[in-house]
Amino acid sequence: MIKENSIGVFDSGVGGLTVLKEMVKLLGNEDYIYFGDNLHAPYGERSNSDIKSLSFKIADFLVLNKCKMLVIACNTIVASAFEDIKKRYNIPIIEVVSNGVKAAVSVTKNNNIAVMATPFTVSTDVYSRTIKSINANASVTEIPCKTLCAMIESVWGNSDEHYDALKEYVSEIPQNVDTLVLGCTHYPIVINDIKKCFDKNIVDPAYETAILSKEVLEQNNLLNSKGTKGNIIFYTSGDTEVFKFLGENILGFSLENIEHIKL
Ligand code: DGL
Repeated sequence: MIKENSIGVFDSGVGGLTVLKEMVKLLGNEDYIYFGDNLHAPYGERSNSDIKSLSFKIADFLVLNKCKMLVIACNTIVASAFEDIKKRYNIPIIEVVSNGVKAAVSVTKNNNIAVMATPFTVSTDVYSRTIKSINANASVTEIPCKTLCAMIESVWGNSDEHYDALKEYVSEIPQNVDTLVLGCTHYPIVINDIKKCFDKNIVDPAYETAILSKEVLEQNNLLNSKGTKGNIIFYTSGDTEVFKFLGENILGFSLENIEHIKL
């Protein structure tokens, strides 16, 4: 594998941009290919076989485009297909769930953790299992947030309807919980609204994911050594204008290279 090759980052839609943002801050001279399958989002209400076959298509595309590492910036894909994706390719694969878990376990003071995630992710218990494998004393409440991803994909804005739905989900967090994991990469996009409803620790796995990505690139001698700013190409299976609007809000810089692609 060649150091100069891109890092592939992917999600069902724009949620993975919250991870890309942290990666660009830490690894600004790397080139990236981002893939958002906006046409088929939300994945969180799809079947396991659907999620697997869509994510294989995306990962195949990124590997065909010579990505040197893949970052699965989607909890739902991790819950469904991480083990299969790991077996399918011979390059480092990074994922968000274990990084969110690591952060939550180190931050909680009373071992009471809640996770907001998609219905699919919650149905797999991936967070409870992973948290308990590190801290057997932890108590984990997972809250399926059926409508949030679609609301965020269709532009969140200041709508009361969206905020009410969010409040309803947050109200399911038990009183004794001191740490909330955002177990869907779309949720950090509305973290300011989440903070209005929950005033204790909030974990966004993006930062830890970026740190681990850097470590893994170092270990594999794959860090790009060029001294100039990296390039990012965005692919979306959805509408490029909507992607550009949402993406620029999330990333805070203008997106130049957005291509529409059929999946
Ligand atoms: N952003 C994704 C996640 O982290 C997927 C949300 C969805 O498509 O339902 O789970």
